[in-house]
Amino acid sequence: MATRLNVTSEPCNRVDNETPALGASWHAVLTSDELGDEPVRVELLGEPWMLARLDGDVVAFHDRCPHRNAPLSIGTICGTQLQCAYHGWMFDADGACTEIPSLGPDATIPSRAAARRAGGVAEAYGLVWISPETPLFDLPAFDEWDDDSFDNARNEPRETPASVGQLIDNFLDATHLRTVHAGTFGVDDGGYLPPSEIVRDGWSAHTTFEVQYKNFDDPLVETGEHPLVQPQRLYKEIAGPTTAVVRLYHPMTDKTVSFLFACSPTNNDSTRVFKLMSRNDLTDPAAQLPALLDFEDRVLDEDLVVLEAYDDMAVNTELRDEVSVRSDRLSVAYRRILAELVAHRSSRETALDSTMAPAS
Ligand code: FES
Ligand SMILES: [Fe+2]
Repeated sequence: MATRLNVTSEPCNRVDNETPALGASWHAVLTSDELGDEPVRVELLGEPWMLARLDGDVVAFHDRCPHRNAPLSIGTICGTQLQCAYHGWMFDADGACTEIPSLGPDATIPSRAAARRAGGVAEAYGLVWISPETPLFDLPAFDEWDDDSFDNARNEPRETPASVGQLIDNFLDATHLRTVHAGTFGVDDGGYLPPSEIVRDGWSAHTTFEVQYKNFDDPLVETGEHPLVQPQRLYKEIAGPTTAVVRLYHPMTDKTVSFLFACSPTNNDSTRVFKLMSRNDLTDPAAQLPALLDFEDRVLDEDLVVLEAYDDMAVNTELRDEVSVRSDRLSVAYRRILAELVAHRSSRETALDSTMAPAS
């Protein structure tokens, strides 16, 4: 007999790293390099997941064997199959159980003896992505990564107690640059941010700010042909609840530096931050990139000083609880998208099969 439950218990005005409504979205969880020949366990939204390459295909299963809950991540990859370490059940890339050794070779496998697959798994931009449930939208687009005219680099993943909501909100924000980033690129220009139009597109939104920037990367600054402080067109995009795309275009040099920030909501104590950089302004990438990555780590350090000082890491989506001004319109759009994700999930009915597998 099937039992139907209404999922309505989720609070709708705060989003943290274990908010179930984030489950229908893509989250980067590993670099491609971190997923080798052995299964890997990751935690996402407070839940354990196992990732493995089965004959080249990346699979993601809930890290609980359907038999007796042993972690599948301590199992063994056998070609296109994964073998549980406890009683040796075998699972294919779809999660279907193909063999139960204790039943012998001709046994009928119970249909419920299946590993629970993630709703989506993908590999893009040198990262492995999971959507625990069927994703509501596509993987974030970061076309520069596959553009030959751009050079790519990635900072080492960072762990922080700040939440994904705090981090994405920060990466979207353009009014903290002169204060938080005074030690790197911030310009003390008075802080005025000209209004910009917010473009909402499904579960995404973006805008382009006009700001001032210390362009240390422009070689003509050293020769005195260009000023250090230059105008910058700053494109910021909400690319899902845990990912942001930021593009820095410098009209004086006609060059672009782009970032993909992908934040993995591990649990309510931890977030893993992936920061990818793709840029078309380098003359000697191998020589230049190490210092540029170091600079980007320092920029993130500056943000984390503030974000990690919060005593509540959740993002409040009740707009009346905070004071927002015109220059906060993109972060208001972010809060609206988060609130809509929570409402979307809360309005859904979830059917759960309460039947048990028949005893054998
Ligand atoms: S717990 Fe996995 S086979 Fe028994
Ligand atoms: Fe920042």
